[in-house]
Amino acid sequence: IGRHIHYEEKVESTQKIAHRLATEGAVNGTVVVADEQTSGRGRMDRSWHSPKFSGIWMSIILRPNLPPHQAPQLTLVTAVAVVQAIEEVTGLNPQIKWPNDILIDGRKTTGILTELQADADRIHAIIIGIGINVNQSQEDFPEEIARIATSLLAASGKTVSRASLMQEIFVRLEKLYLTYLNHGFQPIKLLWESYALSLGKEIIARTVAGDIKGKALGITDEGVLKILQEDGEVRHVYSADIHLGE
Ligand code: BTN
Repeated sequence: IGRHIHYEEKVESTQKIAHRLATEGAVNGTVVVADEQTSGRGRMDRSWHSPKFSGIWMSIILRPNLPPHQAPQLTLVTAVAVVQAIEEVTGLNPQIKWPNDILIDGRKTTGILTELQADADRIHAIIIGIGINVNQSQEDFPEEIARIATSLLAASGKTVSRASLMQEIFVRLEKLYLTYLNHGFQPIKLLWESYALSLGKEIIARTVAGDIKGKALGITDEGVLKILQEDGEVRHVYSADIHLGE
């Protein structure tokens, strides 16, 4: 991972370029990285603020020989790799909010967006977009996200080398990706749960079909969140925003 790097100064979105390169046959592990994105994309059709030089804005193309329903697991593999890399490079202790937001002191530093090129039974390419707020000062964040976002600089008081952090992510991700392919999701699941923020806590999952309230129990072997409702029923949540309950 990271042996082929496609660098751009300014793009609309590295996801868009990675999708194109994947269609054109880019090899497994190809990375697209930019200094600035003019229309960075987030999960659930949101935008992702990606100012020049302040963060890592990149998309990684992987080509696992797997069925599409295993894609969420790869997102969790990536989240663990990024957490480990941030720990290693900054000494901070980030946590993961399901499915793949990385938080420090309760504020988001990193988002991961996974998109697929697949047919019904095989993944052709998985495009993993990683956005890390690295060197913004807290005042640099736009008002709408200032309360919920932070950067590695704001959290640690130190400027962080984007190149070193990227390098560390490639090393960690390659290792965990191979662990996952060779030994399955179980070892990754244990690591993921050790970094998870809300396990055992009361949460509210906002889904498109409404809110689900209860205690976060953990994730299934597929990477799906399990919530124990007050009525005793365990619900499986595939896609949602998680809020801590009262
Ligand atoms: C989220 O909503 O939390 C996911 C944010 C993902 C942002 C990254 S930045 C690099 C890549 N290119 C994009 O347009 N989005 C992802």
